[in-house]
Amino acid sequence: MVRLYTDGINIGYDESLVVEDISIEIPNKKITVIIGSNGCGKSTLLKAMTRIIKHQSGSVVLDGKNILKENTKILAKKMAVLLQTPECTSGLTVCELVSYGRFPYEKDFGRLTKKDYEVIDWALEVTETKDFKFRAIDALSGGQRQRVWIAMALAQETEIIFLDEPTTYLDMAHQLEVLELLQKLNVEQGRTIVMVLHDLNQAARFADYIIALKDGKIVKAGNCEDVINQNVLKELFHIDAEIGRDPRTNKPICITYNLLKGESKNEKNINSYATSICANF
Ligand SMILES: Nc1ncnc2c1ncn2[C@@H]1O[C@H](COP(=O)(O)OP(=O)(O)O)[C@@H](O)[C@H]1O
Ligand SMILES: [Mg+2]
Repeated sequence: MVRLYTDGINIGYDESLVVEDISIEIPNKKITVIIGSNGCGKSTLLKAMTRIIKHQSGSVVLDGKNILKENTKILAKKMAVLLQTPECTSGLTVCELVSYGRFPYEKDFGRLTKKDYEVIDWALEVTETKDFKFRAIDALSGGQRQRVWIAMALAQETEIIFLDEPTTYLDMAHQLEVLELLQKLNVEQGRTIVMVLHDLNQAARFADYIIALKDGKIVKAGNCEDVINQNVLKELFHIDAEIGRDPRTNKPICITYNLLKGESKNEKNINSYATSICANF
């Protein structure tokens, strides 16, 4: 059963359209990964699906209801979001920030209940941030801070979790720990995960479904075999990739790649810029 889908959404800033006519179903209780080059519209799509920004036309539907018409607390009980560059947190402690994840359940003038404290502790535990529970966020490393943000999203206890590049700032081991944690939440608790990842090998390893975006449009959507292949990567990133098999997971991996010679994206842009300048003379 599909709970969340977009129907022909267009999203833009001011006059310019950044995401065009996207109709996509997010598989329920699966891990979906969005990939694509810088600036192609991944964060914009994620923000529109979570109502952080409004789409201009089309619709985003969750449980049969247009999300623009949904009550904020109800929406926040259904989906949590970790943005790419979370807002400033100056002065807050780890525990305080994670407790913000409980806001959809707030009653009684915002007082936290026993259940709230239990969930906060659980979120701190699984993200390994318990040791600095009372420390100021500002006094943490980038990687520690990232895990605290993830803890806040988990504390919201939603069935759908969106994360925009959640492995940024993390070392290799912590990247894997975060992805394995999300996988565990998916497998054991049936949570739907939608995330943007840059690392294609991690995308292939963890995703059930991959959405490949280019210039605000879907180039391909499907399982890792459908998307992590030479043709799609050429189209997406303008690279010549050699794809092999991960000997441990048997998933596709990009072993090595080269930029496609003589027609890199930048050269193409420079050429068309030069042509347009020449045409003006
Ligand atoms: N708040 C904004 N105002 C105007 N343009 C924006 C804004 N946010 C993003 N953009 C533009 O929209 C395009 C897509 O951005 P984004 O969705 O952040 O890409 P990605 O996440 O794939 O790197 C880019 O050209 C970016 O400059
Ligand atoms: Mg982004």
